[in-house]
Amino acid sequence: MDKIIWDNSFSVGVPTLDKQHQKIISIINQLIADPTSDFGSVSVAKILNELTHFASEHFITEEDLLAKFDYPDLPSQRKEHKAFRTRLAGYCMEAMHSNSAIPLHILAFLKGWWVDHILVKDMDYRPFLASRDVK
Ligand SMILES: [Fe+2]
Repeated sequence: MDKIIWDNSFSVGVPTLDKQHQKIISIINQLIADPTSDFGSVSVAKILNELTHFASEHFITEEDLLAKFDYPDLPSQRKEHKAFRTRLAGYCMEAMHSNSAIPLHILAFLKGWWVDHILVKDMDYRPFLASRDVK
């Protein structure tokens, strides 16, 4: 599987959010680079827990910022975030029970979800926040 390459098309125009997105992508890229993980499934579960942590932190920052400016599409942002959290929680359990590698469907989900979410859903608020001079 190819790594996610960050370029300017991923930028939502707010450095804090971009940095959080980059951190999450780097965790996913770490798993793409080493899906069989030399260190066994406990570490894969550990990485997924780390991802859960950073994703939750990011969703809170993003939702708070969008709420502050009354972003009209916030409910559907929240809905997508919630669905991701639920799915990842299930996958964390699954990864804990897998032998030595992160199951490929989980990796494919993580890559697909974040690329799509950032490029489509999050990109929708880019002009909205830019028009309110959020930096
Ligand atoms: Fe989002």
